Amino acid sequence: MGLLKIAKMGHPVLFQRAEPVADPGALEIRRLVADMIETMEDAPGVGLAAPQVHVSLRLFVFRVPPARAAGGEVIPPTVLINPEVEPIGDEVMLCTEGCLSIPGMRGVVPRAARIRYRGVDCDGREIQTEATGFHANVIQHEYDHLNGVLYPMRLVDFTSFGYVEEFAKLAG
Ligand code: NI
Repeated sequence: MGLLKIAKMGHPVLFQRAEPVADPGALEIRRLVADMIETMEDAPGVGLAAPQVHVSLRLFVFRVPPARAAGGEVIPPTVLINPEVEPIGDEVMLCTEGCLSIPGMRGVVPRAARIRYRGVDCDGREIQTEATGFHANVIQHEYDHLNGVLYPMRLVDFTSFGYVEEFAKLAG
């Protein structure tokens, strides 16, 4: 129990397609989820996928904190197991992303502006909803982790990819 070690870009587990979770209610899965939420909050981050903690399973935790809700729904730490994500329509939004596996960096990547997703939690409850904005952004980023995709692999403009400290200088 406690904080988990986060795999950094370069570790092979981040580039694997993760396996479905056979029993979402298993004690080991509940423990993993509790530790992942603790690790995400400690970082602090807004999402963490199991492959990022060296577990190649199809689950992630995420949250939408008040500062990122932009007037929309604030979502407390939530788990999504064996998720499916699909875009609604073809509108694209540009998202500035970071990743706990790529510390200190940011990049701008295109994402579907509106999505539908579903999955289950540890009690087998079905989660099914639609999302836009930051909520849709974090779901797509975490879902990518389950398929071995990191956000730099979606960059279309490398001039918007770099170190947070350099972007901060520009903004300042
Ligand atoms: Ni990430």
